Amino acid sequence: MHKEIEPKIMYFGTPVVLISTLNEDGTPNLAPMSSAWWLKNFCLLGLGKLGKTFENLTREKECVLNLPSSEMVAEIDRLACTTGKNPIPEYKVNMGFEYVPDKFGRAKLTPIESQTVKPPRVSECPVQLEAVVENIHNVGGTNSSLAAIEIRIVRSYFDEKILSSEKRHYVDTDKWHPLIMSFCEFYGLGHNLHPSRLAKVF
Ligand SMILES: Cc1cc2nc3c(=O)[nH]c(=O)nc-3n(C[C@H](O)[C@H](O)[C@H](O)COP(=O)(O)O)c2cc1C
Repeated sequence: MHKEIEPKIMYFGTPVVLISTLNEDGTPNLAPMSSAWWLKNFCLLGLGKLGKTFENLTREKECVLNLPSSEMVAEIDRLACTTGKNPIPEYKVNMGFEYVPDKFGRAKLTPIESQTVKPPRVSECPVQLEAVVENIHNVGGTNSSLAAIEIRIVRSYFDEKILSSEKRHYVDTDKWHPLIMSFCEFYGLGHNLHPSRLAKVF
């Protein structure tokens, strides 16, 4: 039996991405997000336009997409309800958000220099993708507060610990444990379910 409901959110379970961007004064900002999907070396990010990350991406056109492992859940949760935007947008004040200028310090994470873009990578993240903004699309009309940001990945770094020992340039999916957000709750992935026919051809 199905019930018709009007869900407040539709976050069905996607990996968390920690985006580092550069503030106007040259310091880094760091924000967790999970509305991201991937297409070859492109990524589409669903972001609120009132956040510091959106402001920085619009101005600088550069970022690093850092993918945390499930073991990093405590660090990610420390960044929940924080913003690098000052003053804090009214709707976030009402939700109890806090202005935090040093997000790396708050999360207890380490910035390391990137090679092709100015924002730093997050040293502890097993996947670090340096990227540039190609396009910014409005979602829900010009006056809406949501955007889809088209990102092109220019350089990728993967921790050796998650790489396949047999096939170069491949991730060993038994070693990669992404942090998943499902309806605002944190999860890890379960075990491998079934041999994949698609994996055989790629
Ligand atoms: C795990 C997690 C996932 C999130 N996913 C998104 C998202 O997909 N899109 C978005 O706009 N905000 C998302 N947020 C909320 C942003 O992190 C929040 O708006 C934050 O204030 C942005 O920081 P900034 O203003 O410094 O950019 C998420 C927060 C958490 C903790």
